[in-house]
Amino acid sequence: MKRVETGITGLDEMLGGGLPDQRVVLVSGGPGTGKTIFCSQFLHYGAVQQNESGVYISLDETKHHFIKEMQAFGWDFQELEQNARFNFIEASRLRRIPEEAQVGRLSVGGRELGISNLIDMINTTIKKLEARRVVLDSISGLVFRYPKVSERRLAALDIIDALTATGATCLVTSEVQSMGDARQVQPEEYLSHGVTVLQTLKTGERVVQILKMRGTKVDTVPRPYVINESGVEVYSTQSVYQV
Ligand SMILES: Nc1ncnc2c1ncn2[C@@H]1O[C@H](COP(=O)(O)OP(=O)(O)O)[C@@H](O)[C@H]1O
Ligand SMILES: [Mg+2]
Repeated sequence: MKRVETGITGLDEMLGGGLPDQRVVLVSGGPGTGKTIFCSQFLHYGAVQQNESGVYISLDETKHHFIKEMQAFGWDFQELEQNARFNFIEASRLRRIPEEAQVGRLSVGGRELGISNLIDMINTTIKKLEARRVVLDSISGLVFRYPKVSERRLAALDIIDALTATGATCLVTSEVQSMGDARQVQPEEYLSHGVTVLQTLKTGERVVQILKMRGTKVDTVPRPYVINESGVEVYSTQSVYQV
């Protein structure tokens, strides 16, 4: 299986070299666990080290804010954008675009988020850049607009299918409210090819665990990680006992 290096120290070792090529992998975790930084690092590494263009789809951040935030890690996404290595899609704007009748598998009224508009925009942008890496941050922001669980599942299925069809390697973040045994498994966890969970313990320690990665053997032991001035760093030879 072809691997796509994330560039996140320690994580690629856990993954046996990198993410499976052209797959959709979920990055799940509570607020502040580093999902946005994690995914940005994957895009930045691809663009700078692998000559692979990337697209970032954000449901709750503006491009301006994102670019400023990532400068703290020395990642210049503005420059990458100017060199056609990067594009940012402000998906939050699509919320206000009314949509009629059928959207993917869902019939929705005018007030709903236009998932099909979003998918069109993602496909156009990926083609234009010949992007190999895509991030959707977050799928929760997209599917929580649907009140019924059954509708959410269909919306998640539509977006994951669409991302799979792009042929790019995709990271999708998912907001988790409560962790541990009580945490609710979201439909996107079943639907994606792999699941990585980020967690902050009561002690403040950060822990990453790969729950699933279809078609490949990975390290499923929870490992400590830190967020520092160079981004996310996983200690793949250390273990955490108190998860
Ligand atoms: N420059 C930095 N150096 C070290 N840690 C940082 C830096 N910037 C943010 N962080 C840490 O990263 C966390 C936010 O990461 P983020 O990717 O935005 O989380 P999420 O997307 O999961 O909500 C903050 O809670 C903070 O602890
Ligand atoms: Mg975030």
